[in-house]
Amino acid sequence: MQEIIRLLEEKRAQARAGGGQRRIDAQHGKGKLTARERLELLLDEGSFEEWDMFVEHRCSDFGMQENKTPGDGVVTGYGTINGRLVFVFSQDFTVFGGSLSEAHAEKICKIMDQAMKVGAPVIGLNDSGGARIQEGVASLGGYAEVFQRNVMASGVIPQVSMIMGPCAGGAVYSPAMTDFIFMVKDSSYMFVTGPDVVKTVTHEQVTAEELGGAITHTGKSGVADLAFDDDVQAIAQLRRFMDFMPSSNREDPPQRPTDDPSDRAEYSLDTLIPDNPNMPYDMKELITKVADEQDFFEVQPEYAKNIITGFARFEGRTVGIVANQPMVLAGCLDIDSSRKAARFVRYCDCFNIPVVTFVDVPGFMPGTTQEYGGIIKHGAKLLYAYAEATVPKVTVITRKAYGGAYDVMASKHLRGDVNYAWPTAEIAVMGPKGAVEIIFRGDLGNEEKIAERTEEYRQKFANPFVAGSRGYIDDVIMPHNTRKRICRSLAMLRDKQLENPWRKHGNIPL
Ligand code: HXC
Repeated sequence: MQEIIRLLEEKRAQARAGGGQRRIDAQHGKGKLTARERLELLLDEGSFEEWDMFVEHRCSDFGMQENKTPGDGVVTGYGTINGRLVFVFSQDFTVFGGSLSEAHAEKICKIMDQAMKVGAPVIGLNDSGGARIQEGVASLGGYAEVFQRNVMASGVIPQVSMIMGPCAGGAVYSPAMTDFIFMVKDSSYMFVTGPDVVKTVTHEQVTAEELGGAITHTGKSGVADLAFDDDVQAIAQLRRFMDFMPSSNREDPPQRPTDDPSDRAEYSLDTLIPDNPNMPYDMKELITKVADEQDFFEVQPEYAKNIITGFARFEGRTVGIVANQPMVLAGCLDIDSSRKAARFVRYCDCFNIPVVTFVDVPGFMPGTTQEYGGIIKHGAKLLYAYAEATVPKVTVITRKAYGGAYDVMASKHLRGDVNYAWPTAEIAVMGPKGAVEIIFRGDLGNEEKIAERTEEYRQKFANPFVAGSRGYIDDVIMPHNTRKRICRSLAMLRDKQLENPWRKHGNIPL
């Protein structure tokens, strides 16, 4: 017994030491925390239950027989974040560069399987040199085992990836299949092939940071959702983010106590919309002013800024927010914004999170770039996502809702449950000027006549009442009451039941 306990302590100490002090110092030298330090910050104090600390790789080639570290480069287990259960894996770059061996993959798969059984999110802290080169195909098999589980878990439990170091080659595809990808600036990167291969094949000169750093993926490619300054900020924000997340698709989103009254009036919203319909305003102001305690967790803030997506709470309960942003491209829908919002709506729908949509959209973006890029298919994604969603859907049209974009943005016709308009709403096939130019194409008349006809069209159609007369909107509400009306709607919809017809799965235009 004494001997076993001594051995146990020894092995534990060995596992905790990872790749040794020299490599830990190197990790710190790069401004990065170690795998265990990260978990300490992420999980509630003392809540971490570690699994598989004694797992070792089974490789005997290239002198690996003598080169073993208990845990084999990944720390796995479960713990709590603000009291709620999560499963975690944290790759240890100090052990074989966090590379993934067969045994390392088995540890990840084990916690994923358990998370599925109990219905709790999986958070991966990624910091790895990729496939364990000494193991060859056994490592590739390990990756594929993880991929398969990522797919099976999709829509069942939330999966979140935090990229905190290298993530390259096929290894990127596990995070890619998770629900959210966060990155740390200057110390993490993701790419399918690195700068050297890029140079050989395409003769492009590019740094790792430019090719696949946090700024690239949150701004250019849209692969990642958020970029953080360092490990500490990243983990603090991850904790805040997880507070919005449900544990699984079997649960309602979490509720937390709030002192913010549901009938709080916000009179400044009455003057949010400028008199000139072509003047922009900041839609984020509306979102923060109506949300509980002004708390809005935006995802993908740097990508396709013409649409805003993120999480907020009403009466303490998580909701997903989608909103056109008139400040960017006049809030037009284009390829990137359609894809961004479609994926977000589908996430919310998987996990029973109601969707609140704020609409100010002049239409789809015209042009060859958009058409050649497939705006038809990409725009259809958003339409499809809203149409298939069965969660409570509350829509507020603040100003423009024109053309196809009116239909797409959670309209009544796509089973919007409650559709409101502000008095400033303009719901029509197109803007008054464009409409007059088409209706009177052969006989436009002089400037004065055009202005007169435009005004006539505006009076007739650029208001909420034509849609209201058909029941396409349920009410015209005062902007200052927006929070109250949303809260009431969501309360009414709390026990909503709606099911789509049985099918293996739909065929969303990809
Ligand atoms: C085994 C690895 C490793 C790997 C790093 N190490 N990557 N060991 N397999 N894939 C080890 C190094 O030998 C070194 O060991 C330690 O980790 C730290 O690595 P360094 O190179 O010193 O660190 P750094 O300079 O920061 O560079 C990090 C790196 C580089 C850019 C990740 O190590 C690298 O290029 N590694 C190889 C990456 C790669 O080609 N992976 C396979 C990709 S293919 P010591 O003992 O010196 O500390 C792939 C396919 C997945 O992943 C397919 C899925 C379908």
